Amino acid sequence: MICADDLSTGRRNNIADFSDHPNFTFLQSDVSTSLRLTGPLDVVAHLASPASPPDYHRLPLETLAVGSRGTENALKLAEQKSARFVLASTSEVYGDPTVHPQTESYWGNVSSTGPRSVYDEAKRFAEAISMAYSRSRGVDVGIVRIFNTFGPRMRAEDGRVVSSFIAQALNGDPLTIYGDGEQTRSFCYVDDLVRGIVAMIDSEEAGPINLGNPVERTVQDLAELVLEITGSESAIEFHPRPVDDPGRRRPDISLAATRLGWQPQVSTEEGLLHTISYFRSVAAEVSAAAGSIAGAQFEGTHRADAPAYTPVMASPA
Ligand SMILES: NC(=O)c1ccc[n+]([C@@H]2O[C@H](COP(=O)([O-])OP(=O)(O)OC[C@H]3O[C@@H](n4cnc5c(N)ncnc54)[C@H](O)[C@@H]3O)[C@@H](O)[C@H]2O)c1
Repeated sequence: MICADDLSTGRRNNIADFSDHPNFTFLQSDVSTSLRLTGPLDVVAHLASPASPPDYHRLPLETLAVGSRGTENALKLAEQKSARFVLASTSEVYGDPTVHPQTESYWGNVSSTGPRSVYDEAKRFAEAISMAYSRSRGVDVGIVRIFNTFGPRMRAEDGRVVSSFIAQALNGDPLTIYGDGEQTRSFCYVDDLVRGIVAMIDSEEAGPINLGNPVERTVQDLAELVLEITGSESAIEFHPRPVDDPGRRRPDISLAATRLGWQPQVSTEEGLLHTISYFRSVAAEVSAAAGSIAGAQFEGTHRADAPAYTPVMASPA
């Protein structure tokens, strides 16, 4: 296995456990610039992209580049090696959805110019060019649309809601909710997602196929669950909701079930237990992230009509 990563949002120590394995090679390289590898390849799995909102707001041009040029470089590599190509797309292609739960046949409700567009439109382009390589060049393409996934080894300052809440709870800082907390998400544990991606690699399906956990909960419920599991007495703090923040998110996973024989097996509660235990094991990183999570998460992306920043405190109970 060859892993190509520019480490722009990833970390070398995430692959420390197998970096000495004789069948594993790491290449530090920007896939938007070039992707040339010698030797045969069976599969090109294209997962490279900034993925958390603070990352893609900080790296807007790089996010567009990796979704466009990076995807084309990966497709060309798959074509050259006669390899299967699997694209990690996203539920963000549905934008702020008007159809619920989201089925693959829904075309989405996406702003092409808003602050999230660099990510959403890059992934939509990535899907389009993948299908074009499939139709016009015969590349064996499979597209998965990943819904909110979490687990150990996320960065404490990553800015996604699960890692932010856990780090804030462990630090005794207020949990920051953007909006009234009634927006929903469906959280998939990383082990389930990896099984789903492997099933897509092993199949002949083109997709797109949703991969996510269909158990939907509000962001406020998630905050309360994190407080309960960590035993933290942190408060919950409400901040203005960002522009284009999706109101509801839940995958319809019928296609994944029938075509891939896949469904998630790990509950959000169990996944949180593993993730919280991991975050406790990197206490220095978690406390170093204190102060950089709140406010930075959606900097510059609030609604134009949002009131000035005035946190409202609420009891977690
Ligand atoms: N985690 C989720 O909830 C979720 C949801 C939908 C889609 N996805 C997609 O799954 C993939 C993995 O996401 P993740 O959550 O593990 O994010 P992540 O940031 O942890 O991992 C992405 C990796 O891509 C690397 N990368 C970024 N730009 C690159 C470039 N130009 N060249 C080489 N490497 C580059 C980063 O260094 C990082 O290691 C991404 O494509 C993301 O868009 C994730």
